[in-house]
Amino acid sequence: MSSKRSCSASGNRHFYWLSAIIAATADPTGTLHNQHMKTLTVDLGDRSYPIHIGQQLLDTSDLLTRHIHSKQVMVVSNDTVAPLYLDKVMQGLSGFDVASVILPDGEQFKTLDTLNSIFTALLEARYNRDCTLVALGGGVVGDISGFAAASYQRGVAFLQIPTTLLAQVDSSVGGKTGVNHALGKNMIGAFHQPGCVVIDTDTLDTLDDRQLSAGLAEVIKYGLIRDAGFFDWLEANMAALMARDKQALAYAIERSCAIKAEIVAADERESGQRALLNLGHTFGHAIETGTGYGNWLHGEAVATGMLMAADLSARHGWVDSDTVQRTEQLLLQAKLPTTAPGEMDESRFMELMAIDKKVIDGSLRLVLLKALGDAMVTGDFKAELLGETLRSAA
Ligand code: NAD
Ligand code: GLY
Repeated sequence: MSSKRSCSASGNRHFYWLSAIIAATADPTGTLHNQHMKTLTVDLGDRSYPIHIGQQLLDTSDLLTRHIHSKQVMVVSNDTVAPLYLDKVMQGLSGFDVASVILPDGEQFKTLDTLNSIFTALLEARYNRDCTLVALGGGVVGDISGFAAASYQRGVAFLQIPTTLLAQVDSSVGGKTGVNHALGKNMIGAFHQPGCVVIDTDTLDTLDDRQLSAGLAEVIKYGLIRDAGFFDWLEANMAALMARDKQALAYAIERSCAIKAEIVAADERESGQRALLNLGHTFGHAIETGTGYGNWLHGEAVATGMLMAADLSARHGWVDSDTVQRTEQLLLQAKLPTTAPGEMDESRFMELMAIDKKVIDGSLRLVLLKALGDAMVTGDFKAELLGETLRSAA
């Protein structure tokens, strides 16, 4: 018999295209749904996993259940997403011994304390090391749940149902998990790959415009670091994306996930090219930490950071001013910020950027552009030009 329980946390209740298929799938009652779904694979040998992208995928529980290999399932969500989608996910898992843990919503809760509340819920419910955690939410829920799965009883299975655009195009794919520290963003964590990623693009219908824009920042990132043609496409289609055109969004998600899957497959643990995915992040993480977690959205901070990276690249003569202007225009079209907050002066940037995972032997390295669509990680930039970028950013 299956049972449903709720656990309380922090005071709250409880590249590879495989196919473009028209699939007919049956729900637990045997009802057939026709849907257009695309499946990509993150190719990591025997830890390879699918990314399913399509509409109404929360109604297709088999996409999840085929990756669950024991009775105990814990769905982790937050108090914004759970009222919207938890029931549907729980229904799809009704054949399991399924419980949920609901976290408080917000980047400021991406902490060790919140992580501990998941461990408490798992231990109180006597979950074993063959249990499966399911992350239902944006990047914050996904990163904390993934880290809980990486460390609970030294590692348990974990599935991702990302519900923000940012999580669908970036954080749910690739196995980076973790929490923030007061002194630095994402400083405590582990690599732990999910067993699958199920992207139901219909969940974007309830996402507010500011969060949609934040996700578009990471989409623009893929054009800048890897695919100039995709950047051109984004310029031509940003109005459609902002108007939430379903086809345009589906393409942007698919192309972003394909680029991310290819990079992660080539460099899972970031010994090389995976660091390119951090374009704008050294500046952006400094803004997030410096302004207090949750005040600037991650995508907003990355947007400003990417323009700073483009600016610094241009000051070195690696890209022309046209690239900087096109980047700025695209970010503005996506209603993203392009100037740093006033309180982030040069010395505060330098202080916070020193706490970055790309720092080696005390030397700062940055992701900078060699061309539109081509990036590099380098410590070989001029300090005085970095100073000029930092002083002109606000
Ligand atoms: P988030 O998780 O805070 O979600 C943004 C807001 O949207 C929250 O209030 C959330 O409750 C709400 N929400 C989520 N889905 C919704 C829906 N369908 N309808 C309505 N509201 C919804 O923020 P995010 O932008 O998704 O993720 C940012 C986090 O991801 C940061 O902590 C960042 O560091 C992390 N991140 C991780 C990686 C990685 O590789 N692991 C990559 C990029 C970003
Ligand atoms: N978001 C950066 C990475 O996954 O490596």
